[in-house]
Amino acid sequence: MAAALADAAVETAGRLLARARRVFVLTGAGVSAESGLPTFRGAGGLWEGHRVEDVATPGAFARDPALVWRFYDARRTALAGVAPNAAHVALAAMERSGRFEAFTLATQNVDGLHRDAGSTGVLEIHGSIRRVRCVTCGRETDDRRAPMPEIPPRCPCGGLLRPAVVWFGEGLPPDVFDAAADAARRCDLCLVIGTSALVHPAASLPLMAAAHGAVLIEVNPDETPVSHLAAAALRAPAAEVLPLL
Ligand code: OAD
Repeated sequence: MAAALADAAVETAGRLLARARRVFVLTGAGVSAESGLPTFRGAGGLWEGHRVEDVATPGAFARDPALVWRFYDARRTALAGVAPNAAHVALAAMERSGRFEAFTLATQNVDGLHRDAGSTGVLEIHGSIRRVRCVTCGRETDDRRAPMPEIPPRCPCGGLLRPAVVWFGEGLPPDVFDAAADAARRCDLCLVIGTSALVHPAASLPLMAAAHGAVLIEVNPDETPVSHLAAAALRAPAAEVLPLL
């Protein structure tokens, strides 16, 4: 029975996608779950054992940059052995297929796995753990060193480097978020994949899409605050269901 329901949802989603011309995708931690990366809010979530305010705020970094860097260094080191999964690959293939007039992928993830899978122009609205930014001169660079040879690492200018991610209490990079909001408002189909849709402004993107008349498809084993807007809800792991679309 459950399998038949899931099949029906996949069929509906497939039909909606076949009709779509402008697609906007928002992904969250769930899309990387099958790559072995923990989500934020699930059991065993990333923040467990760490008070968020100790490791992911500008205030925490000002107080104890080494503590913050130890947390991020462990994440960067763990990421070095991680590969994209079938969900990332399916989204890259969807973009490459040329089926759509426009295809925009925005992610809340900082892991870089969409790019590794071959997606282009990914809007990393919460930044990237693979980049660092100098708090003194502002220079931002790719940096894959893991583990870091020195904690906290320093810029050639002498300033402290920080991970180029968005912390609690910080604004999103405005140009990146504006590009995502623009694509959300213009799309006719919005895919919302593996996000609890609780953290704003990211979670407002599918709401914008729906408000502008787009059809929503949700891929998430659990219900979320945007579920009631979805024309099709695929209640299964993204890596299982996205290759079917
Ligand atoms: P969450 O951990 O809040 O939510 C992950 C979602 O993925 C949940 O709704 C799960 O049900 C779903 N999920 C779990 N396994 C899945 C799978 N295999 N396939 C599909 N879905 C699955 O993560 P996000 O919504 O990404 O922000 O969290 C949003 C933001 O909160 C993060 O970007 C981060 C965090 O604070 C910053 O760091 C700024």
